[in-house]
Amino acid sequence: MKKKFYITTPIYYPSGEPHIGHCYTTVACDTIARYKKWQGYDVFFSTGTDEHGMKIEESAKKAGTSPQEYVDEIAGRFKKLWKFMNIGYDRFIRTTDEAHKSAVQKIFTALYEKGYIYKGEYAGKYCVPDESFWTASQLKDGKCPECGREVIDAKEEAYFMKMEPFAERIEKLLTEGDFLQPSARVNEMLNNFIKPGLEDLCVSRTSFKWGIPVPFDPEHVVYVWIDALSNYITLLGYENDEYSDMNYWQPSTVNCQLSTVNCLHMTAKEIVRFHSIIWPAILMGLDLPLPKRLYSHGWINFGGKKMGKSTGNIIDPFILGERFGVDAVRYQILREMPFSGDFDFSNELMLNRINTDLANDLGNLVSRTVAMVIKYFDGAIPVSSLKFESGEDSDLMTKAANLRNKVDELIETPKLSEALGEIFAVISRANKYIDETTPWVLAKDETNKPRLAQVLYNLLETIRICSSLLAAFMPTSMKLVWEQIGVSESEGDVTYEKAGVWNDAFNYTVKKGDIIFPRFDIAKELEG
Ligand code: ME8
Repeated sequence: MKKKFYITTPIYYPSGEPHIGHCYTTVACDTIARYKKWQGYDVFFSTGTDEHGMKIEESAKKAGTSPQEYVDEIAGRFKKLWKFMNIGYDRFIRTTDEAHKSAVQKIFTALYEKGYIYKGEYAGKYCVPDESFWTASQLKDGKCPECGREVIDAKEEAYFMKMEPFAERIEKLLTEGDFLQPSARVNEMLNNFIKPGLEDLCVSRTSFKWGIPVPFDPEHVVYVWIDALSNYITLLGYENDEYSDMNYWQPSTVNCQLSTVNCLHMTAKEIVRFHSIIWPAILMGLDLPLPKRLYSHGWINFGGKKMGKSTGNIIDPFILGERFGVDAVRYQILREMPFSGDFDFSNELMLNRINTDLANDLGNLVSRTVAMVIKYFDGAIPVSSLKFESGEDSDLMTKAANLRNKVDELIETPKLSEALGEIFAVISRANKYIDETTPWVLAKDETNKPRLAQVLYNLLETIRICSSLLAAFMPTSMKLVWEQIGVSESEGDVTYEKAGVWNDAFNYTVKKGDIIFPRFDIAKELEG
């Protein structure tokens, strides 16, 4: 039986155009999902849209349409983007799906019946004309952030979820294992929320209608987080008959005495509190096991600010992908984003990355190697002439053969940028190896032919290993590399097992192909 691995993106608000920020999390999850599948895991990968709430209600009103029509349109755009970006998810959940809605009602009722949810009063700042509640920190100069008018102190009846019964176990989860990555975020959670004492969470509202009604008190709608976070299990079939994939939510390990599911939730840092405190509390309340890992990455900024729909500083992934290639965009965002911290998107940085890493280092390595094999050996390396007396080759051979284990470790954490760094270090080493061995000089003397064959064979092996490891990151272009160096996926030449060993006797027959990663004239591109 294959080991199960479940990976999730946040479900995005369909309240504006999807942008490069959404792409980062989704491409990262897609890459990990592909890599894990390649390793032999039984993978389930989910994404979706979080379609309820006041903001959506308002955006729909502004657009002159109904909330349902509004979310249908934007959820469609997210789906279109994921297809374009080559995202191979297994399920796309929409919180307006009937199966999800009825499951959330059952979850809410179960938590209520167990005494974890109670009715109380929500006190906040209220804008009368807008009929909206705001927290003190949301106000702009003490006024309504939407319309700029005065707000008043007001109260409304609301349901709350108790946090105290779960506090000790949540602290254990955060401090005793490696649940939350990067680990610096653990202290933020402890200092800002756990140590001051966890506050009960408001889980219903009566001030807007666009949400899932509380089944036993339909004046109330379920407020944001119970609705949104539950998607991770309702899409597997929890409390509904639509899906039957709850076997992905079975405990596989014990982490600090809490049983955990082999699941990785990925989000950016602004929603880490909900995923590291509230979500575990909901699961504990339902007596369900917890996810093994939460990775919360930094932000893609643009012009020094978080790229986002509210700031309006968004980069359209369709435009970038069409101009520079989807794989180049996937590569660039995964390569630039540090494990912890943010990065500032710039077109210049992106073009430099494409030119340096993809066109020069990888692209040239492939095209030069293929061209030399054609020129000196009519496209096929004579395996019989290989000698394998390593010597000056050993550095490249060892680096390439050890690469897979390094990448495995980095994918696990997950440090995708560092994984790419390791792969491209071997690609650079291979380019240096060409300069050291000077195949064009060897070619001048017929007696050097066996040595020349060996050198080119070593380059092809290195390309095979690196491109196998890169396939999860850039699936389309690595297939093109394989065509050119003459290895075949269907023949089993690029399996996970083979990427971890140096093969001494592969019959390489290469084929000249088109340029895989074109170079861009940076000045011209930036002008346009
Ligand atoms: O928060 N840089 O939805 P959302 C990096 N519906 N990542 C970014 C980003 C940026 N500039 N902008 C967006 C919500 N993201 C809730 C989530 S989950 C149960 C409910 C990515 O549309 C990143 O993953 O605001 C971030 O956490 C998410 O989009 C927020 O998406």
